[in-house]
Amino acid sequence: MIITFAHHKGGTGKTTSCLNIAGYLHECGRRVLVIDCDPQANATSGLGVDPCSDRLSMYDVFMSYAGDYPAVGLADIITETKSGILLAPSSLDLVGVEPYLYTLNHRAEILKDAITEVGDEYDHILIDTPPSMGQFVLNGLVAADQVVVTFDSGVFALKGAEALSTIMEDVETYVGDKVVADVAVLTRWDKTPGTPVSAEGFGARLKQLFFGKTDSVNNDEENERLTAFENDVKRSFKTVYTVPFDTNVQKAQEKGIPLAQFAPQCEAASVYREIADMINSQ
Ligand SMILES: Nc1ncnc2c1ncn2[C@@H]1O[C@H](COP(=O)(O)OP(=O)(O)OP(=O)(O)O)[C@@H](O)[C@H]1O
Ligand SMILES: [Mg+2]
Repeated sequence: MIITFAHHKGGTGKTTSCLNIAGYLHECGRRVLVIDCDPQANATSGLGVDPCSDRLSMYDVFMSYAGDYPAVGLADIITETKSGILLAPSSLDLVGVEPYLYTLNHRAEILKDAITEVGDEYDHILIDTPPSMGQFVLNGLVAADQVVVTFDSGVFALKGAEALSTIMEDVETYVGDKVVADVAVLTRWDKTPGTPVSAEGFGARLKQLFFGKTDSVNNDEENERLTAFENDVKRSFKTVYTVPFDTNVQKAQEKGIPLAQFAPQCEAASVYREIADMINSQ
């Protein structure tokens, strides 16, 4: 099964969800490949691989489809990371590929085509995409059997999902592939009084820490907004998971290993385990 993590808004938890679900699928003994299709290369560094090294990367795989570039397939770039998860790494150069892709007729189907070479070797392929509506997201959506849409609690996240569903309809119209987006993950979710963590909430929390101010954020109002948000998401997706704010998330990423190995007892880890179990049982 090929799962793409998408939302064109930045920082909604695409990379975090991708890596931690991969972590639990790997713990279950499944053969897992993460494909980092984001020029920011956060999935690459989050698995402990340096995106600035001169190793072969997704840059070379995409460039193989453009003109005279030497043939490089996914099998040539896949590397085993310290957690045991296999990775097709990104590199910061990937950003330079997009202009070439616009010259190609089947530019949205490159990743899907590249995966056919290695697909049989994996039980699960998880694709991380950038916060944009460009060719990498499109390639991720076209390659996917299933799309997981991630949301942070910021006010623009729902609007972003509407735009994403339009793109998915376009994929169906122009490429003929039906894109299934049944699963939503709400990340960094925290409705506990006194700890709002929406974009506005972070500022309020900092003020609270440094100046002892509670600011004008009314937690009841904020909680009400989040509940309304959750209900909206639940109307659009068959399954919705809520991952609480957890400081272990960032610490695990800095160590280059998933929560399954870094802090399996934490609350965020248990939600990611649940999502992986659901995927595993499909
Ligand atoms: N449950 C969580 N608790 C605490 N921090 C989290 C949680 N989930 C994600 N984060 C942090 O929030 C930030 C954004 O998450 P992440 O990088 O996964 O988002 P993204 O959608 O991949 O971002 P981008 O759009 O830039 O690719 C990261 O610093 C990550 O460590
Ligand atoms: Mg990311």
